[in-house]
Amino acid sequence: MRNKHYPNLFTPIQIGDIVIPNRIAMVPTDISSANADGSVNQRVITYHEQIAKGGCGFLIVGATTPDKATGRPTVTCVAADEDPLIPGLSHLAEAMHRYGAKCAVQIQHPGRQAAWPRKNLMSASDHVLDVPGSAGHEVIYAESIAQGKTIRAMTVEEIYDLIEKFGEAAWRVKQAGFDAVELHGAHGYLIAQFMSPFVNKRNDRFGGSFINRMRFTMEIVNRIQMKCGRDFPLGIRYSGDEWIEGGRRLDESVKVAELMEEMGLAYVDISAGIFESPGTVMDPMYYPEGWNTYTAEEIKKHVKIPVITSHSLRNPEYCEKILAEGKTDMVGMSRQLIADPYWANKAKTGKKEDIRRCISCLVGCWQESLMIKRDMRCAINPAIGDERFIHLQPAKKSCKVAIIGGGPAGMEAARISALRGHKATIFESTGELGGAMLYCCTVPGKNKMRWHADWLRCRMKKLGVEIKYRTEPTAKDLKDFDVVLCACGGKVAKPEIPGIELSLVVTFEDVLRCKNKKCEYYPEDKAEPVECGENVLIWGDHFGAADAAEKLGTAGKKVTIVTENKDFAEWMEPCHRDVMMKRFASGNGEGLKSKTYVHPVTVIANASILEIKKDGTVVIVNSNFVRSMVKVDTVVLAKVVPNDDLYESLLEAGLTVAKIGDVKKVHNLRGAVTDGANAALVIEEGVMLNANNELISNLPTGVEL
Ligand SMILES: Cc1cc2nc3c(=O)[nH]c(=O)nc-3n(C[C@H](O)[C@H](O)[C@H](O)COP(=O)(O)O)c2cc1C
Repeated sequence: MRNKHYPNLFTPIQIGDIVIPNRIAMVPTDISSANADGSVNQRVITYHEQIAKGGCGFLIVGATTPDKATGRPTVTCVAADEDPLIPGLSHLAEAMHRYGAKCAVQIQHPGRQAAWPRKNLMSASDHVLDVPGSAGHEVIYAESIAQGKTIRAMTVEEIYDLIEKFGEAAWRVKQAGFDAVELHGAHGYLIAQFMSPFVNKRNDRFGGSFINRMRFTMEIVNRIQMKCGRDFPLGIRYSGDEWIEGGRRLDESVKVAELMEEMGLAYVDISAGIFESPGTVMDPMYYPEGWNTYTAEEIKKHVKIPVITSHSLRNPEYCEKILAEGKTDMVGMSRQLIADPYWANKAKTGKKEDIRRCISCLVGCWQESLMIKRDMRCAINPAIGDERFIHLQPAKKSCKVAIIGGGPAGMEAARISALRGHKATIFESTGELGGAMLYCCTVPGKNKMRWHADWLRCRMKKLGVEIKYRTEPTAKDLKDFDVVLCACGGKVAKPEIPGIELSLVVTFEDVLRCKNKKCEYYPEDKAEPVECGENVLIWGDHFGAADAAEKLGTAGKKVTIVTENKDFAEWMEPCHRDVMMKRFASGNGEGLKSKTYVHPVTVIANASILEIKKDGTVVIVNSNFVRSMVKVDTVVLAKVVPNDDLYESLLEAGLTVAKIGDVKKVHNLRGAVTDGANAALVIEEGVMLNANNELISNLPTGVEL
């Protein structure tokens, strides 16, 4: 029966001789959650099982190494390099099959981009390239810069040894019961290193001409077909465009697809980029939905085998549209299914407003996990990596929970509290829920943050959370609550320097005030944003500073940033920072066809401000005590400190009160959501504070406090 909401999305498709129940693929996602020996564990199973349960038709397990000793893409990736790993893999396949999904494993050797080992990394070539934010994770290990990174070209003997290992790994995957195998030829990992004219500088039969650069891949394909049979579906993922000068462009990518089809491959999975162009591999929030679809569309014109497209696909309507228009055969999603494993079922049943859309922040799934050699998390879905949130335990008795502040921490706390059966009340000082998330709405390319704000706001309604707008409660108002969560966020610091009270000095909050009057949550009494003059100085190094610079830079203002740090926005997720810094230099993020800034953004690092004069002259001092001056029309303050005044008074009044989000430590969305979720998970009758002023409940029997 054709689905009445999205008929194309829910039409089956054949890959080789397997029938996939719908057009939704989980494109490979290395969640770095396996055991240290690469064996599958319950966390890996649960992750994939939830997505299969959520109705995804085809799941491709992320980068799985054929040789742990020479290359792991992440330190705890899945491995398929030994027979004793087969039973674990078979449990993984079973968990997905149980829910009607078909599944594959992506086999990948990271080559130069290995997270482990750190030294003597194998590649097609021996030249070391600067790989920003690379999966080589060179920023992460101690003394990495001083020690240098050693990459060397593989010998022909090593190449053939690894070809054999790819074949063996594929055989183990088949043996474990998977329906297909995929080769990872994208993003600058080893197969891509051979395929790429940018990386591969060999002058033997594995380098040079197109067919020589394809030889490593072709030999692997041959080996897998010999070991698994030509009828065992084999696909390949590679980048339609590497987005780098001298790299593979779309015309050669078409040739790759034709060659792979000729060799008997069952499908092609078209990704984007190489790690030298990180924004295209894992596209930041700025990228519009489906910006990479054109590559699949072109390739599809030249082959008959199914084509998968991916990158920033989030909305079922959009996915339905590109399928209906024949631009792709399947839609691939990675981060969307991290944020909401049940995307497919929600789309199928017409509940699209319930989909927790991924905002592409890359903070939980990359910056604060894989990039620092940890297992994968998600900024907006606390259930990733923490099974306590998958099957929430209802509270034994409903409690009255007061939450001060309706930002992401407060709303997430209210959501989990309500789901567990508590009665949650949010006290919000303004007329609108959303907190710091709303500042992003005004920044070109960052309005995806609004998606999460709206999702949470919609949950508040659906869960019947009581909201008291424009209310700042005192200890007296809160005395009847069992527990109080202080989620008041941060506040802009006003350093005591001459001129700080001048009218030309404003805060990032004034500048980034969202004025989308069409928004259903827009309060009538909301003040208009402050208009800045042509020359603006931003003082601070926080999201507010970066967002204000992006908003004003896009609007054509001349922006100067003053930061006390040695560089601006070092805390920022590297793919975002890479794109932002390119735009600050009046360039463009690769693959991003946005308007470039008229003026480059100037960053004055290692500096602070001593005085702001009436005529707009700002006196700056650097770390060598050298003074300089700039003349501006507006100064934007963007240093943020915890807004914890209320907390202290509530604690003194003897309330059971805990801090969550920025009021605890100025951090980011992930910090806020995680804090809110964790606090709400603990709330039970008799909840109390421990010696660290954190909430505790359910103490073991016999422990008396
Ligand atoms: C945490 C994480 C792990 C990933 N692991 C893999 C992988 O193992 N293999 C791969 O080909 N791509 C991997 N990718 C890239 C994704 O498959 C996908 O191409 C990219 O995230 C853009 O698509 P999306 O917007 O649907 O996330 C990974 C991405 C993320 C965020």
